[in-house]
Amino acid sequence: MRIGWKQTYETGISKIDEQHRRLFDMVNELLDQKTRSYNERQIFSLLNGLVKYAEEHFATEEKYLSYFKYPKFEEHTRQHLAFLQEITKFAQKLEDHQANVFPQMLEFLKRWYFTHIGESDRLYVEYFVKHKLIHPAQELL
Ligand SMILES: [Fe+2]
Ligand SMILES: [Fe+2]
Repeated sequence: MRIGWKQTYETGISKIDEQHRRLFDMVNELLDQKTRSYNERQIFSLLNGLVKYAEEHFATEEKYLSYFKYPKFEEHTRQHLAFLQEITKFAQKLEDHQANVFPQMLEFLKRWYFTHIGESDRLYVEYFVKHKLIHPAQELL
């Protein structure tokens, strides 16, 4: 089942919104694979794309957060790192053909989208709004 778009996923910073939307599409493409015949090559290629793009996105986001001295910068960065580590573990297990890894990974991705982009990222948006940084943030990159 695909994840649906929610208004709360919008940050108001166009570069970040563009990246969040692309990550959203990438997660959904992986979710689509569940209903198709299992194609390992396709799954690994989608997963690689997702990891590369997530790294790019995290780097962009961290640039904003550090520039605007977000108080929870360290914690937020740790969450990004934890995501990449978790995905690497799932990829390893998939390669080892462990049972049920794929559905577990999909659940993790769905949850991550809700809890990270829908909740943790929301917190820095609130900070930006509170300190009237949305407009300057928009023009930073
Ligand atoms: Fe994000
Ligand atoms: Fe983030």
